[in-house]
Amino acid sequence: MRIDVLTLFPEALDPFFSASIIGRAQTAGCVSIRSTNIRDFALDARGTVDDRPFGGGPGMVLMCQPLFDAVEKLETEEPVPATRILLTPQGEPLNQALCRELAALPRLLVICGHYEGFDERIRLGLRPREISIGDYVLSGGEAAAMVLIDAVVRLLPGALGDEESCNDESFSHGLLEYPQYTRPRVFREMDVPDILLSGDHARIEQWRREQAVERTARRRPDLLDKWKQDKVDDSSMKE
Ligand code: ADE
Repeated sequence: MRIDVLTLFPEALDPFFSASIIGRAQTAGCVSIRSTNIRDFALDARGTVDDRPFGGGPGMVLMCQPLFDAVEKLETEEPVPATRILLTPQGEPLNQALCRELAALPRLLVICGHYEGFDERIRLGLRPREISIGDYVLSGGEAAAMVLIDAVVRLLPGALGDEESCNDESFSHGLLEYPQYTRPRVFREMDVPDILLSGDHARIEQWRREQAVERTARRRPDLLDKWKQDKVDDSSMKE
C-alpha cells in the first residue's frame, strides 16, 4: 500500500511514521508513507496557503489552489488510483470496519485540514471521503492522520509480526478484548485467575469469551447490542 499525507506540518508526522510498527511495516515493504507539505504548492514567496473567510468571521481558511495542485501532482506521479481522504470532525466516524475497508485499498491520499477550516470547494471539487476520528475538535488533522494510518497499517498483511495478534483483539469480533495476564502469578496480592494456569485450552477459550461479553456489556452496551444482532443475522443467513 502507498499512503500520501498532505499536511502543513510534515515534521510532526514523519517521526511517528518512522517509529514502532509503522516504521517496521515500511521497512518490511508492506507500506510506503510519504508526507508532503501543502505550503510547497503556494504560489508566492511567503508560502501563503490560507486567507480570510468571505463574509467575515474569525480565523483563516485553507485555500483551494495549493491543495488542488498538490493532490493533482501527487496523483499523476504514480498510476495507482488514490482514495482521497479528508480528515474533519464533519466526516463519517472512523471505526474498525472502515479501517479494514481502507486497508484493502492500494493507495490512500490523506488530507489534513488545519486552521479554522477549509474552502468548501475543496470538498466539492476533490470529492474526498470525509472521515472523523471522534466527536471532538482537534486543532488540525495531523493527530487524526496518525490515528487513521496507525489503525490501517497494523491490518496490512505482514505489518504485525504475528498475524494472530491482529485478529483476536477488541472489535475484530465486535467485542472488547478479554483481560490478559503475564508473569508473575501474584503481583501485590493480585492473582492471575486459576483457569489461565489450568492448561485446559477449551475452558480458557470459553472463559475469555465470557469475559469479553461481560466487559462489553458493562463498558459498551451499544457494541454488545450490535454484536448480538450480527449473530442473529449470521445464523439466519445460514438457514
Ligand atoms: N480535524 C479536527 N478535528 C478532527 C476530528 N475529530 N477528526 C478528524 N479530523 C479532525
